[in-house]
Amino acid sequence: MKSENRIWTVRDVLEWTVNYLAEKGLPFPRQDVEYLLSYVLKTTRLKLYMLLDRPMSRSELNLFKQLVKRRVKREPLQYITGVAYLWKYEFLVDRGVFIPRRETETLIEVAGKNLKGKEAFIADVGTGTGCILLSLLKDNPKLRGVGTDISKKAAELFLKNRARLRLTDRAFIAVSDCLSCFPEEPMFDAVVSNPPYVKSDEIPKLQDEISLYEPREALDGGRDGLSFIRRLVREAPAYVKEGGFVAIEVGEGQAEAVKFLMKQAGLQKIEIHRDLSHIERVVVGWKL
Ligand SMILES: C[S@@+](CC[C@H](N)C(=O)[O-])C[C@H]1O[C@@H](n2cnc3c(N)ncnc32)[C@H](O)[C@@H]1O
Repeated sequence: MKSENRIWTVRDVLEWTVNYLAEKGLPFPRQDVEYLLSYVLKTTRLKLYMLLDRPMSRSELNLFKQLVKRRVKREPLQYITGVAYLWKYEFLVDRGVFIPRRETETLIEVAGKNLKGKEAFIADVGTGTGCILLSLLKDNPKLRGVGTDISKKAAELFLKNRARLRLTDRAFIAVSDCLSCFPEEPMFDAVVSNPPYVKSDEIPKLQDEISLYEPREALDGGRDGLSFIRRLVREAPAYVKEGGFVAIEVGEGQAEAVKFLMKQAGLQKIEIHRDLSHIERVVVGWKL
């Protein structure tokens, strides 16, 4: 995008940049450009198409160029725009904290159904932005809960998301290794978690957006991907009340192994739930 004196309309910029990003090998260039332009013009992707003939100001163009440079280096869109959408809600995200993924909606849906209408206290282990816990609490006004995360940065973001969703009186955060900050007694009606579950040697093979930018401790599940889950399944039941449950998001092909681990840990009525892509995604075990 050169020629200092030329007037660039939104349409010109859109078309030029879609081609540019395609040349750079970005897989979804139009989607990227629509999000980045909407961000710069403080509008939505839908409304962007009503602004096509609007000339862009010099400062808008400068900001847009900076964002495109970051995207070309494969920085995830959500880190560039600072937000991610999950379930029915918008969450602030930032470098150093895991970006919420669509597949996690299966855990929110399954846990939400089990908790519907109940007055319950729940824990979300490895809460990150808080997307699971805050969605559950927002949907069900009788729930209270606490998120734990080893990452201080995640805890800071959790607090911002909690305030934006007006859940300050019901949602809490602890910077903690797994559940170790709590006394080991049955205090929760449910423990939910989307833990790190990628095999260590698969991380460098993931797309650059993940391997270069997302925090390793949010991804790394050790040699077989199950290190953290093994520990969580072993430890969580002691914190769950009778009649409560443990619900864990798992990676593709891990569900049967996690079901076995839950049985070993004394959990019962174990269920496996599939996500929208029909992948076995969530394992639930009950303490009866
Ligand atoms: C896959 S991310 C999930 C984040 C968020 N719950 C979500 O679904 O978007 C896993 C999270 O676990 C946290 N984590 C990793 N090891 C942990 C540990 N030992 N104790 C607590 N949290 C941990 C990471 O910091 C990260 O936020």
